[in-house]
Amino acid sequence: MHPNLSFEQAPPISVPYRFFVTAPWFGAAAGLLLAWLGPDALVSRWAPGALAVTHLLVVGFMLQAMCGALLQFAPVAAGGNVWRPRLLANAVHPLLATAALVLAAAFVSSFGPLFIAAASIFAVAIAAYVVVVGLALRRTPAQGATLMALRLAVVGLAVTATLGITLATGLGNGRSLPLIEITLVHAAWGLGGWALMLVMGVSYFVVPMFQLTPPYPLRLAKALPLALVLVLGLWSWQLTGSAAPWQTAVLLAGMLLAAVYAATTLVLQARRRRKVADPTLYFFRGAMTCLLLIAAFGLWFAVDAEAGADPRAAVWIGVLAIPGVFVSAISGMLYKIIPFLNWLHLQRLGGPGVMPPNIREMIPARTMTGQMWLHFAAVAGLLLAVLQPLLTRPAGLLFAASCAWLGVNLAGGVRTYLRFRDRMLASAATSAS
Ligand code: HEM
Repeated sequence: MHPNLSFEQAPPISVPYRFFVTAPWFGAAAGLLLAWLGPDALVSRWAPGALAVTHLLVVGFMLQAMCGALLQFAPVAAGGNVWRPRLLANAVHPLLATAALVLAAAFVSSFGPLFIAAASIFAVAIAAYVVVVGLALRRTPAQGATLMALRLAVVGLAVTATLGITLATGLGNGRSLPLIEITLVHAAWGLGGWALMLVMGVSYFVVPMFQLTPPYPLRLAKALPLALVLVLGLWSWQLTGSAAPWQTAVLLAGMLLAAVYAATTLVLQARRRRKVADPTLYFFRGAMTCLLLIAAFGLWFAVDAEAGADPRAAVWIGVLAIPGVFVSAISGMLYKIIPFLNWLHLQRLGGPGVMPPNIREMIPARTMTGQMWLHFAAVAGLLLAVLQPLLTRPAGLLFAASCAWLGVNLAGGVRTYLRFRDRMLASAATSAS
């Protein structure tokens, strides 16, 4: 499973970058919304504010970053030939950004037509993305655990979006639907079948490559995505309307799988050959620790019925999962991917007289580390705010600040690329004339 990169099919750098530089600002918007809504926002998962904040993160921050990363990753790491990536990005990027804002506005205002508008825009954007990227991943002759997880993640995105669009349409036109059951299944596919599956598939590839760890054990790497899909299939049983007595066992099995993946990643990272610690490593460790905590608290909430019935229990798990696992893992990956892509594209541009900067200077380590600590402080603040609602405003502001800082850092990395690209092109033009 050793990384085999093929750059011939890599998309233009502007394709992933537009998604990467937009994503953090949705995180900042989520933090500001939380601060604006104040103490009531996190008291229950069903609070409209909590749903708006959730979606600014899951379809604003996470979906943007993940769609951009997959457009880069599918051709380069899995040999998938994405059809007209620039055209796809030109269409999908603004549609996703608009739909995320409209959906958040729909939750905050409970205004039916906004739900319908968001559902329609998402339907177009996600259908186009799933068809084009899904075909690329289906047609590639490559094999392996990464590819399997990526294919399943795209299926996970399709299922999540279909259920989300059904929910939003139902809320928009007042049709009566089994909202709770559909939401539970939608949330599980979104966080497990799409987000965790994609993080798993990408990490099988990039953790050994960037952090010089031993590879993930092949059998485990293949078994985890398949087992996750099985668990999600069983969890979806509740859509039939009959609650099965084994649903809690299925939930715990899903959390156990996530914990096995997290523990394996932490063990591999402890055995890395180059003992250098950088923000990506810490971000990843933080994400994996949150994943282990989710399993521990999930077990506690299943065993202790009183604790599990507390409305704050689900919000607590949600904070651990969304800012804790996914925002951390994505931030860490972006801090590696952008310097790497900068270096790669500048290297290929070549040109006499101008050398591309060292990969470590693309985004200064000090500013990445500072942002990382602010992010972890914000996650801790959000967890405290679940216990003490008066802390919701400061925690929201802290989270907004850390996402804005991430946005500034990533934009700085992109500006470094543009600066050197322009210098190289100018120097090539001078020497040609
Ligand atoms: C693609 C990634 C997505 C993820 C990870 C995701 C995640 C979630 C989660 C975790 C919840 C439950 C919140 C809770 O129980 O506290 C939820 C609820 C919901 N989602 Fe999504 N979602 C995604 C996409 C979408 C899309 C595209 C739409 C609509 C166009 C949508 C519409 C909804 C609605 C309407 C609810 C709440 C329903 C209710 O009030 O009962 N979601 N989503």
